[in-house]
Amino acid sequence: MRVLFVCLGNICRSPTAEGVLRHKLIDAGLADRVEVASAGTSDWHIGKAPDSRSLRAAKLRGYDMSAQRAQQAKAADFNTYDLILAMDHSNLRDLKAIAPVNAKAELDLFLSRYDGAKDEVPDPYYDGEHGFEEVLDLVEYACDRLIVELKGRL
Ligand code: 4NP
Repeated sequence: MRVLFVCLGNICRSPTAEGVLRHKLIDAGLADRVEVASAGTSDWHIGKAPDSRSLRAAKLRGYDMSAQRAQQAKAADFNTYDLILAMDHSNLRDLKAIAPVNAKAELDLFLSRYDGAKDEVPDPYYDGEHGFEEVLDLVEYACDRLIVELKGRL
């Protein structure tokens, strides 16, 4: 099973989701059954580490994302991954625009899949520290539910 998280820059929200899910997969004993990655719809930050504010906030909750590097989402991802989860409506729209007709992957909006109070993970890039904490709160909530889904599907 392969899961890809997608946001705009791949330096704040989707790398956070990747780091949190990877950690939770280890705790759930599923690390060898599920692969996780992240990508951005833009090419703006290709090859860069996550934003230092995301790295710091995640580290304080026990998630080490320092080895992750940004990449851009591409049409071929729709036949590499089983589940592609977008952080907001704009990411979802941009992904639909590059999806090939024979896509294998299921494409969905990450939070709305798990009935959270919000359906988008807000972009924290131009925000203060609070925005990065909110990203972690929302991502942790949804990743716990994603783990339950994955356990049922494996
Ligand atoms: P992300 O946040 O999509 O969560 O990685 C952003 C990162 C960078 C920019 C925008 C959003 N930017 O404008 O460079």
